[in-house]
Amino acid sequence: MCGIVAIVGSRQAAPLLIDGLRQLEYRGYDSAGLATLDSSSNCGKGVLTCKRASGKLVHLSKLVDSEGAPGHLGIGHTRWATHGKPEKRNAHPHRDVSGHVAVVQNGIIENHRSLRKDLESQGKKFVSDTDTEVIPHLIADELKLLQGEGRQPCGAMLKEAVQNVTAVLKGAYALAVIWVETPDALVVARKQAPLVIGLGEGEFLCASDTPALAGFTRTILPMEDGEVALLTPLGIELYNSQGERQKRSPSLLTGNSQVADKRHFRHFMLKEIHEQPETAELWVARHLPAGLPIESPVAMPFEESFYEGIESIQILACGTSRHAAMVGAYLLEQFAGIPTSVFYASEFRYAPPPLSPHTLTIGVTQSGETADTLAALDMEEKRRNAHGDLAFASRQLGITNRSDSSLARQVPNILDIGAGIEVGVAATKTFLGQLLAFYGLALTFASRRQNRCPTEIQDLLTELKAVPNHLRKLIQKHDQLSEALASRFAETQDVIFLGRGINYPIALEGALKLKEISYIHAEGYPAGEMKHGPIALLERRVPVISIAMPGVVFDKVLSNAQEAKAREAQLIGVAPEGPETEIFDELLPLPVVSEWISPLLALIPMQLLSYHIAAHRGLDIDQPRNLAKSVTVE
Ligand code: M6R
Repeated sequence: MCGIVAIVGSRQAAPLLIDGLRQLEYRGYDSAGLATLDSSSNCGKGVLTCKRASGKLVHLSKLVDSEGAPGHLGIGHTRWATHGKPEKRNAHPHRDVSGHVAVVQNGIIENHRSLRKDLESQGKKFVSDTDTEVIPHLIADELKLLQGEGRQPCGAMLKEAVQNVTAVLKGAYALAVIWVETPDALVVARKQAPLVIGLGEGEFLCASDTPALAGFTRTILPMEDGEVALLTPLGIELYNSQGERQKRSPSLLTGNSQVADKRHFRHFMLKEIHEQPETAELWVARHLPAGLPIESPVAMPFEESFYEGIESIQILACGTSRHAAMVGAYLLEQFAGIPTSVFYASEFRYAPPPLSPHTLTIGVTQSGETADTLAALDMEEKRRNAHGDLAFASRQLGITNRSDSSLARQVPNILDIGAGIEVGVAATKTFLGQLLAFYGLALTFASRRQNRCPTEIQDLLTELKAVPNHLRKLIQKHDQLSEALASRFAETQDVIFLGRGINYPIALEGALKLKEISYIHAEGYPAGEMKHGPIALLERRVPVISIAMPGVVFDKVLSNAQEAKAREAQLIGVAPEGPETEIFDELLPLPVVSEWISPLLALIPMQLLSYHIAAHRGLDIDQPRNLAKSVTVE
């Protein structure tokens, strides 16, 4: 995780670094720091200024405003703590003993312990608990060796030192390095962590993600794995892991990837919840245009060959994306008739199931940068292609909200959910977008395989087209209902969410949303499983939120809810109004719709209730503690 940004040019670097970091705060906000090099008054050498502050970027920004950090070249960092507490001494940049080399890093150096031990045995003093701190020490040693060969300090030497050091680093990382001896050169390197170069007018930048570049330039050059680049005011030099110079044409940044503003909403999360009717409307317009034949009812960006011969599907994802994948698996199996399994990407990458033939692997990640999902997809591709038998060959599809992400570069087929940038750490509109992507896939597969008759396909299409309007009404209604209910959760410590069938993943998602932003312990359960253990938790102070939508398991869920009520739990129903749902102490009503599309509506009370409970508690909803929007470490 963490975000890094680096710049060399003709303008003062510090304010530009702060602007860039602001766009990367979604990657972590435990501390922030920057280092600049000023060459104006030191006979060709630079004077290194390093400023660091714990907590959010605003603290660093104030520090830099009051104390200054001069220079036209610099590196910056916003941290999500992995090694060492979120304190100032662990904030980046980290420096070598002499303070001449400064480094910012995103990722984890897995062999940092042994490297640190070696360096300590040589007398090097460490001042932080981070894995990063070994890097400036190692680079400084390397530079000393190179200088010892009689060479003059230059950017190429710094690049060589970084290349030599990255050869001994294990793990996944992206880093940026500056050295007082080369005040017009900075070096960046990446291995399994994203880094994109920006080519501006008279300035060159590099950052963990494109939003940090979008305010400066639209011309970008994503770095490939293992590459090292030297950036100077004159241009960039790119080298592969064998040290060979690379020539690639830059590309143009499409869309507006800069962080949006909150408009009149109190939080980004609330704004993004309110944007969901538009997300659905755009999806309907893009994928369900009028006039499509019933045999091919959804506009999809794939060739015929993409669908041919698929016998099973496996989906890899983390967090909320995994919940979307679970709804997707339900649709692909129950509606389209394709055996489908869902895996935690972090588990799959170390314990994949035996290979099955003619299998489509889908990676779901809104950011397109989740390290576990990318690594699991990569591992799966390699083991399939190594198999030799074409029946087992890799076929992959990525579902993401970022068409410029690492996922989009890694996977040949991409479904872009097009939900627009999501700032709130808690995923909301991108969850809806992911769900809709699965409806599109399930409808396509069902009609191609003739697993559903045309009327069933048509009915689902008609219902999907009505979703934006349902969402609009629901959000208005539930915003008020949830706000009114939220005060009752002031003392609550545990909440149970129940659902079954297609709405079980929505119960999981409801629990995750509540945990993430309100810090209330919550569990999502398949309602029928309660009596096998978790029912022991129930008592008066534990609210049970039960999703009960008409369909195959409606009566079953109501009976499970009754069982909870008999244990004095406060029962909140997410269900249509009617005599059957009078058992609930409180009702968050939904319209009667087909069970197939019910998850698309049931998610609204989940999101709004969590939001209002957290808001009522006065918590930092958009940047909850310990979390980051994009999880780029394992
Ligand atoms: O970017 P991704 O969709 O791959 O992210 C996966 C999870 O980290 C993410 O869904 C996380 O659970 C969210 N904070 C949920 O609100």
